Amino acid sequence: MAAAVVPAAGRGERLGPGAPKALRDLGGAPLLVHAVRALARSRAVGLVVVAAPPQGVAEVLSLLDSHGLDGKDIRVVAGGATRQESVRLGLAAIPESTEIVLVHDAARPLVPVEVVDAVVAAVRAGAEAVVPAVPLADTVKRVRPVAAGEPEPVLDTPDRATLRAVQTPQGFRRETLAEVHAKALTEEAAGGSPVVTDDAGLVEYYGGRVVVVPGHEEAFKVTRPLDLVLAEAVLARRRASDGF
Ligand code: CTP
Ligand code: MG
Repeated sequence: MAAAVVPAAGRGERLGPGAPKALRDLGGAPLLVHAVRALARSRAVGLVVVAAPPQGVAEVLSLLDSHGLDGKDIRVVAGGATRQESVRLGLAAIPESTEIVLVHDAARPLVPVEVVDAVVAAVRAGAEAVVPAVPLADTVKRVRPVAAGEPEPVLDTPDRATLRAVQTPQGFRRETLAEVHAKALTEEAAGGSPVVTDDAGLVEYYGGRVVVVPGHEEAFKVTRPLDLVLAEAVLARRRASDGF
């Protein structure tokens, strides 16, 4: 059985004023409830640990209770000041006997279960770290950032065919993920800290191997207001087509 950590302690600054992002409504349920349900739909997932906003642990617990979640073991811990800290705190609540851990953003409410299963399958098949990802639609340029309002000089244009936009759930051997988070914490305490924006980034930073499996366009992250409009549309289409 795999366990999942769901970092849900962010403010959602880019979504604009309102409740913490994980608690914002999408078609009648909070984003977090959708994200936990998406994981619970996988037969491979037995335990889900949510890292909630530190002030919202009790609220999140009762919220998840009231949305009946397929008899899975669901726990809630207080998250931290950064996503990385939230993941570390969630990971600490997962039994050491667990072999496979997923990390899934509460802000990705619509990930299809096929993606969850594909990530677990790749870890089972021997990978220590797995990320779902999709090809990019846009051409990407590296620039030298300058003061706002000034045109930015382009440095170069990476070959788009070699680029992937990375999603979650990311999957790991539990031991590997716990080890890199512990190392990062030690480095932080010493005044440094690896600059990474996802868990696989930590594995890479410490020399581990990460592989990519196909993600899905519906696993997008709700970041800005327009993403919520898209999520509402995807959910409405699912409900119309299969009584989802
Ligand atoms: N997250 C977390 N703890 C934090 C910050 C972020 O658990 N201290 C979680 C968010 O709740 C989200 C996921 O990490 O599910 C991805 O982060 P992001 O999309 O950046 O969410 P927010 O940090 O909430 O949004 P913003 O950066 O716009 O404030
Ligand atoms: Mg953030």
